Amino acid sequence: MGHRVTGTAGAAGRPGRSCPGRVRPAAPVPLNVVGEITSLVTPPAPAQAYGRDVGEVGVREKGGQNHDEEPERMSRLAVIGAGYVGLVTSATLAHLGHDVCCADIAPEKVAMLSRGEIPMVEPGLDQMVREEMANGRLRFVLGAPAAVSDREFVFLCLPTPELADGSADMSSILEVAGEIGPQLSHGSIVINKSTVPVGSTHAVQRALARGDVAVVSNPEFLREGTAIHDCQHPDRIVIGGDDYDVAMRVAHLYHNTNAPVMITRPSSAETIKYASNAFLATRLSFINALACLCESIGAEFRDVIQGMGYDRRIGLDFVEPGPGWGGSCLPKDTRALIRIGEDAGYDFSLLRCAIAANEEQQDRIVAKIEAMAGGALTDVTVAAWGLTFKAGTDDRRHSPAIAIIHRLARSGARVRAYDPTVRQPLPGMDVCLEPYGPCRDASVLVVLTEWDELRWLNFDKINSLMASPCIVDARNLLDPETMRRAGFRYQGIGRP
Ligand SMILES: NC(=O)c1ccc[n+]([C@@H]2O[C@H](COP(=O)([O-])OP(=O)(O)OC[C@H]3O[C@@H](n4cnc5c(N)ncnc54)[C@H](O)[C@@H]3O)[C@@H](O)[C@H]2O)c1
Repeated sequence: MGHRVTGTAGAAGRPGRSCPGRVRPAAPVPLNVVGEITSLVTPPAPAQAYGRDVGEVGVREKGGQNHDEEPERMSRLAVIGAGYVGLVTSATLAHLGHDVCCADIAPEKVAMLSRGEIPMVEPGLDQMVREEMANGRLRFVLGAPAAVSDREFVFLCLPTPELADGSADMSSILEVAGEIGPQLSHGSIVINKSTVPVGSTHAVQRALARGDVAVVSNPEFLREGTAIHDCQHPDRIVIGGDDYDVAMRVAHLYHNTNAPVMITRPSSAETIKYASNAFLATRLSFINALACLCESIGAEFRDVIQGMGYDRRIGLDFVEPGPGWGGSCLPKDTRALIRIGEDAGYDFSLLRCAIAANEEQQDRIVAKIEAMAGGALTDVTVAAWGLTFKAGTDDRRHSPAIAIIHRLARSGARVRAYDPTVRQPLPGMDVCLEPYGPCRDASVLVVLTEWDELRWLNFDKINSLMASPCIVDARNLLDPETMRRAGFRYQGIGRP
């Protein structure tokens, strides 16, 4: 594969170094490294443990005597945290040929995983986990210290939930770092995959209290629902480290993904993750606001966004309007970036507007349902399809579907819901085990998650079950004309 080196301003003009945006001819190196460390903050204390001390400037041409030519070899890895990121990371790295020991603090989760049972919905994950367990490349243990003692690389995939002030709660990460510090083998590398504030790489280094162990930031960009594909074919791999050689050793773990590798200073890697999610959230807020404008002025949103998207600067990905953005990452990461700005004296007011626009979008969906129900929601039965924050996952963390249902309930509506991943009662709603159940005697049906199976139901039957055949399609999942022919009053988002 071609070897792209995209330099930064710091490298321009130096003989033999890359220039911004220039693509070098193909060179026989396996890693596609883009970007570079333009200046290093402080080399980690034990720089000598990893080869050369990189000094104050770590720009380095690729090829030659560095690790780019290092042959593929299986490494011994530990992954701490068997959640959405940790389990997918464990399975994918085992699939790439590494020996992976994955640890979690929850005994029931470790027991389930050790039996080959997967505690979450993620397409393809169960098969990959079972295959890699059978191949002897993946096993599960209880507690981080049990996983790390003979490991060369230790990935932290721990939760960083939002604190009351918007900042990320680092307590799991720092506690684990304190626990594993004494157990780590000499010269091992700790890799932080969790989404963490600027400065966390160095905070983990301090918590480890190990001068001979390096820490890098390696943020994860997987999307739930397509996580296996995303980990096998990442758009990019970002590694933030103070030591180029350490970062390259980590880069080689992803040897077979063919993804561009970008090596930065830790603070840049940490910022890239937050900025990416905050950008995506802002984009969706814009899309939803534009869809609302289109409804108001009689424009067809789909045509508008397509006309915009042919401009390559805008593109046609991530342009679907919906019930507002949610999930375990976008809301907390957007608020965390605002907080990071505040701590640094910068008011990221744009992001506060993006969050406010997202709240408005949920209000708008409730208003549409209310209008369909005749102007009031008291004692109205609403059927809700979808509870997860998107299709393809069982994750309901900060799901806009749940937020909208709670708003409906607060306005006096009775909500009956169906979601293919939910089998137990939830607060504020009745849960049905099949999609026709919620429709019985309902005045409005609202589509909140884009589960494909919902497209293919018997809509004549649904019409006959409902008290009044009205649909609010907050995902634009259904075809308006087909629904109208089937006798429904139908409203989507940004659709006439
Ligand atoms: N979920 C995503 O789509 C996604 C994508 C990219 C990045 N991230 C980031 O990755 C990190 C992890 O996210 P997640 O969704 O996998 O979280 P999660 O809550 O699904 O998983 C975290 C796991 O860590 C375990 N754990 C907690 N404390 C532990 C300890 N002391 N020792 C061992 N295990 C412990 C929990 O039991 C749980 O299984 C977060 O920072 C998140 O922001 C998440």
